Amino acid sequence: LLFLFCFLAIANTEATFKKYPPLGRSSFPKDFVFGAGSAAYQYEGGAFIDGKADSIWDTFTHQHPEGKVSGGVNALGVKYYNNLINEILAKGMIPYVTIFHWDLPQALEDEYEGFRNKKIVDDFLDYAEFLFKTFGDRVKHWFTLNEPYTYSYYGYGTGTMPPGRCSNYIGTCAAGDSSTEPYIVTHHLILAHGATPYQRGQIGVALVTAWIVPSTLTSKSERAAQRALDFMVGWFLHPMTYGDYPMTVQALAGKRVPKFTAEETVMLQKSYDFLGVNYYTAFFASNVLFYNNVNISVTTDNHANLTSVKDNGVAIGQATALNWLYVYPKGIEDLMLYLKDNYGNPPIYITENGIAEANNDKLPVQEALKDNDRIEYLYSHLFYLSKAIKAGVNVKGYFVWSFMDDFEWDAGFTIRFGMYYIDYKNGLKRYPKYSAYWYKKFLQT
Ligand code: NOJ
Repeated sequence: LLFLFCFLAIANTEATFKKYPPLGRSSFPKDFVFGAGSAAYQYEGGAFIDGKADSIWDTFTHQHPEGKVSGGVNALGVKYYNNLINEILAKGMIPYVTIFHWDLPQALEDEYEGFRNKKIVDDFLDYAEFLFKTFGDRVKHWFTLNEPYTYSYYGYGTGTMPPGRCSNYIGTCAAGDSSTEPYIVTHHLILAHGATPYQRGQIGVALVTAWIVPSTLTSKSERAAQRALDFMVGWFLHPMTYGDYPMTVQALAGKRVPKFTAEETVMLQKSYDFLGVNYYTAFFASNVLFYNNVNISVTTDNHANLTSVKDNGVAIGQATALNWLYVYPKGIEDLMLYLKDNYGNPPIYITENGIAEANNDKLPVQEALKDNDRIEYLYSHLFYLSKAIKAGVNVKGYFVWSFMDDFEWDAGFTIRFGMYYIDYKNGLKRYPKYSAYWYKKFLQT
């Protein structure tokens, strides 16, 4: 049966293979790492067992009759992660661990407003040190934060993710100030990253990215594209590399951007051994001159309008089940070259890359496993990634998002990102999709 699936998966994607030159494991350096990612809140389950306390995502997605108080280390939680790490190692794989993937303990949000308060930096350190001490004998690669941009922009800019704060002229949030809070939260996220001590292993940070294409061949559009990159990637990467925010961010958000002290600047410079890059898509950028200055917000500070489809109807790539994800594989190559040229060619891991299909409950499982679009997506991105490596970008590894179908945050269970299908109605049974067989085969060739 396995052979048959493999065969079908390969046969169905022959068109893809013809479109691009042959590619396999051997097209990448010998020590290049391949993997697949997942994140605790998205796939673990177990929200109410073994004494696990609530995170801000539990609060955001559930009705809560009562709060819980934090305190101490949960021994069952430690046991869970020891089992997971040991099992990964026993299967001949290497764990790459993210310390913070958005599920902040609700207790810290209640106690002192979570990342709005600088106190979070000490608690983050405490937590990181505990992880290094407890798991550092086996885990050698750590990411401090996953997509801190998503956390501050959507948690405090648009308010569409927890803790769901924004200015009322932007959304329906109970409270918040989208002109200042995202900058404060970002500042504390960056300091938490920078303060995390180096330990025996290596430390990185995983940033959300997108490639930005000027919507017209004009310097106005080009500058808008640069500002968009600065406000998404540079907002974090600039301080973590050079010790301060990009000039564009400082100029356009002005006093709303907190300042780093001289010591913090030194602490932040080159504060990562490697960079994690989550790449999915690209956008067109066009220039926006003025906004009504009453409604100042992080969502408009870049003075750039980002779209997947231009006014004339031209799309940046093929549309997918997610409204923000249009397929633009060449963007991964362009982005890699941009990071090499502007941030000193750091070692890079592609920590996320993938595509989702709509969750269609009516589709028979065997049909839902035919994810040829995913195979084409992964193959084309790996092709452009291999080109970037040939051009001298220091890419060390690539992780597909995601290992299995999971909870996609604000999209919930309406879409499926996994190489493994989860039958949510029948005991969470797992089935490899065609892409799982394809990835295996790819790694063997
Ligand atoms: C970003 C996040 O890190 C991950 O949790 C999410 O599921 C994927 N990208 C897809 O949106």
